[in-house]
Amino acid sequence: MFNIEVFDLKLNTDFIGRNFVYAEEVSSTNSFLLDKNSNYNQSGTVVLAEKQLVGRGRMDRVWYSQKDQNLTFSILLKGNKKFSQKINLINFAATLAIAISIENLYQLRTELKWPNDVLLSGKKVSGILIESTSSGSKIEHIVIGIGINVNQTIFQGKFNITPTSIRNEINDMVDRERFLAEVLNNFEEFLNKAIENGNLILREWRERCKMIGERITVTDGKNIQYGIFEDIDESGFLLLKSKDKMQKIHFGDVSIV
Ligand code: BTN
Repeated sequence: MFNIEVFDLKLNTDFIGRNFVYAEEVSSTNSFLLDKNSNYNQSGTVVLAEKQLVGRGRMDRVWYSQKDQNLTFSILLKGNKKFSQKINLINFAATLAIAISIENLYQLRTELKWPNDVLLSGKKVSGILIESTSSGSKIEHIVIGIGINVNQTIFQGKFNITPTSIRNEINDMVDRERFLAEVLNNFEEFLNKAIENGNLILREWRERCKMIGERITVTDGKNIQYGIFEDIDESGFLLLKSKDKMQKIHFGDVSIV
C-alpha cells in the first residue's frame, strides 16, 4: 500500500504532483490521462497505479510490472507552447530526474540509453513513454508515462534489454513514497531548466550516455541502420554517422555493435 501522506510530506514542488490520483488498478496510467472524458485536467496531475492491465511501452511493447512493487505513473502537462515545442527535452528531463534520484538516494551509478531508458549495471530499471493529444496542429495535453522497477525481484518473460530493479541492485527494500517524491521534485527542476535553457539538459544527458562515440545499430521495426553514435542534436535527436553522411534519427532501439 502506498502511503500518500508520507509521499506528500516529501513532495517539494510547485505544481507537479500537487494534484495526485492514486489508483489500485487502471488499464494504463497514460490512457487514463489521455482520455478526452477524463476529469483530471490540471497541469502537473500525477496518476499512480498499483497495477496496469495493459501497461504500454515504446515501439508497441507491453510494460509489465508486478502489483504493489514498483512505480507506474503518468504526469500531465498542458500543452501550451512552452512545453509542446520541447517534447524531446521533456523526455530527457524525466530521464535525468529518475537517474539523479537513484544516484542521490541509493548511491548507484546510472547510465542513460537513447532515447529514454535508465540503466543500472547495464540493465534496464526504467522506461518512459511520452504521448500527446492535439486539436488541429496544436498539442493540447502531453502525458509522460514512467515505469520504474523499484522492489520487484523476479522478472519473467522476454525483454529486449534485461531488466533489474533498485532493490536488486542495493539488496534492500526501497521506500516508494520517498523515491517518488524525489523523482517529482527533480523532474520539476529539470523541466524548468529544459524550458529556460535546453543546453543544460542536453549537457547533463550527454554526460550520462556512455554510447556516444560508439559503433551502434538503430532498429526501427525491420529497418536496421549501422553507424557511429556521433551525438544528439539540440532537439535530442540521435545523429548517426555512417560512411560520409550524417543522419538524424527520430525513433528506434539503439544497441552497441
Ligand atoms: C518503455 O521503456 O518502453 C516505456 C515504458 C513506459 C511504461 C510506463 S508505466 C506508466 C505509463 N503507463 C503506460 O501504459 N506506460 C507508461
